[in-house]
Amino acid sequence: MKKAFITGIGGQDGSYLAEYLLDLGYEVYGIIRRNSTPEHQQSRLDPIRNNKNLHVSYGDLNDTSGIERILREVKPDEVYNLAAQSHVRISYEIPQFTVQTNSVGVVNVLEALRNNCPNAKFYQASSSEMFGSSVDEDGFQRESTKMTPVSPYGCAKVFGYNIVRNYRNAYKIHASNGILFNHESPRRGSNFVTNKVVKAAVKIKLGLQDKLELGNMDAYRDWGHSKDYVKAMHLINQQPKPDDWVVSTGVTHSVREMCDYVFSQLDLNYKDYVIQNKKFLRPEELPYLKGDSTKIRKLGWECEYTFESMMDEMIEHWIHIFKNTINK
Ligand code: NAP
Ligand code: GDD
Repeated sequence: MKKAFITGIGGQDGSYLAEYLLDLGYEVYGIIRRNSTPEHQQSRLDPIRNNKNLHVSYGDLNDTSGIERILREVKPDEVYNLAAQSHVRISYEIPQFTVQTNSVGVVNVLEALRNNCPNAKFYQASSSEMFGSSVDEDGFQRESTKMTPVSPYGCAKVFGYNIVRNYRNAYKIHASNGILFNHESPRRGSNFVTNKVVKAAVKIKLGLQDKLELGNMDAYRDWGHSKDYVKAMHLINQQPKPDDWVVSTGVTHSVREMCDYVFSQLDLNYKDYVIQNKKFLRPEELPYLKGDSTKIRKLGWECEYTFESMMDEMIEHWIHIFKNTINK
């Protein structure tokens, strides 16, 4: 039985990845941070909580001794470093924590791996936010696109990306980067724009809310589904040679188009409800993302969800939650 260790297992991707690996027959280990409300933090793991092959313990990327101890005891075959302060706007509010976790945290895990299980395969959750303002002439970002990050989050992720390549070359560690474009699901944090819009639109439809406050509606994002993207993470760690891969749908929509789709599905016009609040604008915005994932598609990876089927699933999720609330 293969053993995998996942940091950030309580997050959107970590929870789907854990489910996927358990289904494949892995023994899965993961860390969550200590939190004053554990029920809330661990809710994404509820579907697999009783699986005997799941082992969750407390840990933090900034607590090196704990990471060292787990890797020494578990000696995993595969390590997935998904833990991060993952909110771009909030990275302006807590830049030092963001850098500590998203940059230094990567070194901490790589060092622990190098010292305790040097043959383990390492996956780093790199991000399209690293491209920042760079777009190739054909309108896509790809593995070769220049990285000009425009946020503390993006800058920190570029360091993580580079240190993975450095450890790969210097120490011959099987360390890879997945450069993932935005991906969503019903498990997405509700302060990310897709889930914020869907949740509010459903509440408006049910008479539970009047208005929705957003920031910049003219940014474009390439939105895929987290369930599809965790399969890419696993595929990357199965490759004979470590490398860097872009994971994306190749389709881009503006925040405005996304709002239009969601409200229309509920027979509403977003223009009647959405207002701008400057507090949700960013000091520097990343205006446009569209990823070329040709390289990983050559390995057989593909998306099962479309933008529309993913947004529909999120709408259904929130309708179910709020109808149950109303009926109680
Ligand atoms: P997420 O839901 O925010 O999950 C991140 C997890 O990391 C959370 O469970 C969080 O725990 C944990 N974490 C934060 N700081 C930590 C620390 N110091 N030590 C240990 N754990 C810590 O994010 P996600 O959407 O699943 O994304 C997974 C990874 O992919 C992240 O690294 C993100 O930056 C990257 N990524 C995401 C996307 C995307 O569109 N989703 C795209 C590209 C890359 P708490 O709940 O305790 O904060
Ligand atoms: N969160 C949020 N809230 N975003 C808003 C809002 C709002 O009220 N109004 C407009 N937006 C715009 C943002 O300015 C941004 O252009 C876009 O919606 C998407 O924002 P997020 O959903 O917060 O995602 P992100 O693109 O900043 O970051 C996500 O994708 C990255 C990959 O490119 C995160 O998942 C990162 O962790 C990930 O690396």
